[in-house]
Amino acid sequence: MLHLTSLLLIILINVGNCPVVLQPPAVVVEYGTSVSANCSTSKPHFGMAWEVPQGAVDLREDVQLITWNLSRLEDWDIKPLCYINIKNQTKPDKRHLPVIVYKTPDSVSISIVGHTGPVTEGTQYELQCDVQNVAPVHRLTVKWYKGQTLLTDTFFNDPTKTPVNQSATLQISPSRADDAADYWCEAELRLGPAAPQPPPTMKSDPLNITVYYAPQIVSRMNSVLVPIFSDVSLNCSAEGNPEPTVMWSFKNQTIITGRRQSTLTISRATSANAGIYTCTATSLSWSQTREVKVEEDYRFLLISVFIIVFIIIFLIILVAYKKKRTRKYDITRNNNCMAMKPLKNN
Ligand SMILES: *[C@@H]1O[C@H](CO)[C@@H](O)[C@H](O)[C@H]1NC(C)=O
Ligand SMILES: *[C@@H]1O[C@H](CO)[C@@H](O)[C@H](O)[C@H]1NC(C)=O
Ligand SMILES: *[C@@H]1O[C@H](CO)[C@@H](O)[C@H](O)[C@H]1NC(C)=O
Ligand SMILES: *[C@@H]1O[C@H](CO)[C@@H](O)[C@H](O)[C@H]1NC(C)=O
Ligand SMILES: *[C@@H]1O[C@H](CO)[C@@H](O)[C@H](O)[C@H]1NC(C)=O
Ligand SMILES: *[C@@H]1O[C@H](CO)[C@@H](O)[C@H](O)[C@H]1NC(C)=O
Ligand SMILES: *[C@@H]1O[C@H](CO)[C@@H](O)[C@H](O)[C@H]1NC(C)=O
Repeated sequence: MLHLTSLLLIILINVGNCPVVLQPPAVVVEYGTSVSANCSTSKPHFGMAWEVPQGAVDLREDVQLITWNLSRLEDWDIKPLCYINIKNQTKPDKRHLPVIVYKTPDSVSISIVGHTGPVTEGTQYELQCDVQNVAPVHRLTVKWYKGQTLLTDTFFNDPTKTPVNQSATLQISPSRADDAADYWCEAELRLGPAAPQPPPTMKSDPLNITVYYAPQIVSRMNSVLVPIFSDVSLNCSAEGNPEPTVMWSFKNQTIITGRRQSTLTISRATSANAGIYTCTATSLSWSQTREVKVEEDYRFLLISVFIIVFIIIFLIILVAYKKKRTRKYDITRNNNCMAMKPLKNN
């Protein structure tokens, strides 16, 4: 926007009352390529010239337009000046041609400062983007990306016009969500609207990071009630990077070990199986444990026993009652007077 405004201003000045007209009003040129600009006037003059170290045009009186033309521009700080000795004026009219000489980087690369290999979650790291041999550095923007997301831009104040090696840094604190993410940087030269469109850019190779993080047991079970003589499975699974080893132990004895997940099966549980079972997830120097209390459930047994006892009692009562009835029957049978006669004997 700023460049557009300044360009418009230059155009306005050019078409205004200044007799020196430059076309184009400003140039953006890649180092080592060709450049050309016209200087013209409509006013009568005693001579006009391009004053410039390369491709100078000596004073000419017979023309209204002179061209500064170079097939290979090899000057980082060139300031071409066109001047015209306008008739009836004591001083010559002068105009500088603004020139931006640029060079695209030789390479753009990304790395982690002082570190190689996987990174650890929650630790801070510094990413560095190295842009080699770029000019002018004050027009350079380093753009930081994670995947397709633009993270931030970095700008530079260095007024150097010749090529420099420039580094940009970015602090990151990776989370597990960043595992296998691609970080990359891009160097872009902000050369304004006179530059080739789109503006020259160069990307680094992606930096694919591996994020290590502590294992976390996902199962939430704290205790289980196991009906006696029945089977039970205890599951334990853990998230982590690298993949955690998950094991079940009981009374300090490791029973079963798995990767990410481990299922302990107890068949025909008895009181000997009751107690605290420990699930341990380990990876690198990290470890997390969770305890599960296994208790025998005697309710079924008690109910069964109760029912059996009840049945036995019922049977006893039934048998006793039957015996009594039989005796009563015998009595009534032996007596012909029948029912109304009260029993004397029990
Ligand atoms: C300069 O003027 C010449 C002659 O009029 C024209 O052919 C050429 O395109 C002009 N160059 C620029 C950069 O305007
Ligand atoms: C500028 O120079 C190149 C080669 O030196 C030539 O081909 C071209 O015609 C020149 N242009 C002008 C406008 O003089
Ligand atoms: C220059 O001055 C002379 C007289 O001093 C005058 O006749 C002429 O019109 C002037 N020309 C311009 C372009 O002002
Ligand atoms: C930039 O780095 C390259 C390679 O490391 C080196 O050859 C070159 O001289 C450096 N350029 C500047 C301007 O420091
Ligand atoms: C990063 O590398 C891992 C393993 O090499 C791969 O699975 C993953 O797809 C890569 N990520 C991207 C964004 O390319
Ligand atoms: C454990 O996992 C298996 C299969 O994944 C499942 O059949 C079983 O019910 C689980 N047991 C418990 C106690 O969650
Ligand atoms: C398990 O081992 C630890 C030390 O290794 C010991 O303090 C603890 O008493 C042991 N527990 C059982 C139930 O054996």
